[in-house]
Amino acid sequence: MDRIRIVGGNRINGRIPISGAKNAALPLMIASLLTDDTLTLENVPHLADVEQLIRILGNHGVDYSVNGRRERQIEGYSRTVNFTARSIVDTTAPYELVSKMRASFWVIGPLLARMGEAKVSLPGGCAIGTRPVDLFLEGLQALGARIDVENGYVIAKTNGRLTGNRYIFPKVSVGATHVLMMAASLAKGETVLENAAREPEIVNLADCLNAMGARISGAGTSTIVIDGVDSLSGARHQVIPDRIETGTYAMAVAMAGGDVILEGARADLLQGALDVIAQTGTEIIPVNSGIRVRRNGSGIMPVDVTTEPFPGFPTDLQAQFMGLMTMAEGKSRITETIFENRFMHVQELARLGARITLAGQTAIVDGVPRLKGAPVMATDLRASVSLVIAGLAAEGETVVNRVYHLDRGFERLEEKLSGCGATIERLSS
Ligand code: EPZ
Repeated sequence: MDRIRIVGGNRINGRIPISGAKNAALPLMIASLLTDDTLTLENVPHLADVEQLIRILGNHGVDYSVNGRRERQIEGYSRTVNFTARSIVDTTAPYELVSKMRASFWVIGPLLARMGEAKVSLPGGCAIGTRPVDLFLEGLQALGARIDVENGYVIAKTNGRLTGNRYIFPKVSVGATHVLMMAASLAKGETVLENAAREPEIVNLADCLNAMGARISGAGTSTIVIDGVDSLSGARHQVIPDRIETGTYAMAVAMAGGDVILEGARADLLQGALDVIAQTGTEIIPVNSGIRVRRNGSGIMPVDVTTEPFPGFPTDLQAQFMGLMTMAEGKSRITETIFENRFMHVQELARLGARITLAGQTAIVDGVPRLKGAPVMATDLRASVSLVIAGLAAEGETVVNRVYHLDRGFERLEEKLSGCGATIERLSS
């Protein structure tokens, strides 16, 4: 199993290209199931989760091909990919595939809308919490689907076509909003989704669906109105830059010090998080090519944060922010409200010398002047990268084990950081 070795202490200076967003690319790829035409997606990141979803979609009959490079694109980075679901050859998403990646459950929406049936394995447990699918099922039922759960599979059927309806999410869910938006695009009549997720990835998907001929308005607000159409066509669409990758590298600079331009990053996708990072004493400067992040000399100020659905502070940056706060000049409180078990990095950060105590869903971080390198274990994607950025600021050597978690969501992490002066390398075994 690969490991990542870091020798901390170097400042980070230079340019880091920001990749296409994993969490935007995945639902966009799934949207290709809605049409027999080709959906061309630009800026698709090269990540283990994307490759896994390509395999899952292939099982349903989606062909894919990789096109020429983007302008100024560096070889091996985000690419243009064509997805064509000429015909759906299988409406079952089996356990072996779905259990590897929760987002693959989302195929249930387009399969049901296009084929009138879908049999999709329940995604099962996940390291960061129980993550049920009740909202997906309730929402699809509101659109007229009949749902049975048998032997670990959700079996969804319609009599002909889904029918538009009003559905109020009892809780904000990114995945369920994606799925209902896709399903309602091909339903008969109007669907109104209330208390919908407002994440930029939802807007990116709505824009793509509209380019395919859907009639969606209000994406990015908590009320989304979808006027169903008979069929959707192909389109060409661009994946937005990854706001979580952007925030992660901004925090790496905040922690290790330095001056970096995050190329292609868009501040509007993570303004809430950038404001919090700025409060720690880090300069965040919008520039033509992206965002410049700079911290020289000054200490790291402690800041309290609570994770919230967009536009609040994202849960996907909570672990990284905790990493940063371990070296703050004072105490901070970090409260996780989205997932009930997303503090697995606490024990690992403690191995580097961090002082953190847990009180329910709140972590109280007592900043220390320095961290010391140690072997640590990656437990999930964002937890892993918090260990990487802490390792960059720690004295001496940190080795992060189980880096396959990182490969799920960070494109060429070692290359991007070592290109800016960090001592970081992959140890293959
Ligand atoms: C998406 O997950 C992201 N994944 C997650 O990123 C992210 O952490 C999360 O949204 C929150 O922002 C992708 O986009 C692929 P949710 P998702 O449905 O859609 C509960 C990463 O590291 N819930 O918004 O699965 C759920 O348990 C990942 O890139 C129900 O109760 O998250 C959670 O507490 C991890 N019933 C809350 O809602 C349901 O039917 C929000 O989950 C669905 C969700």
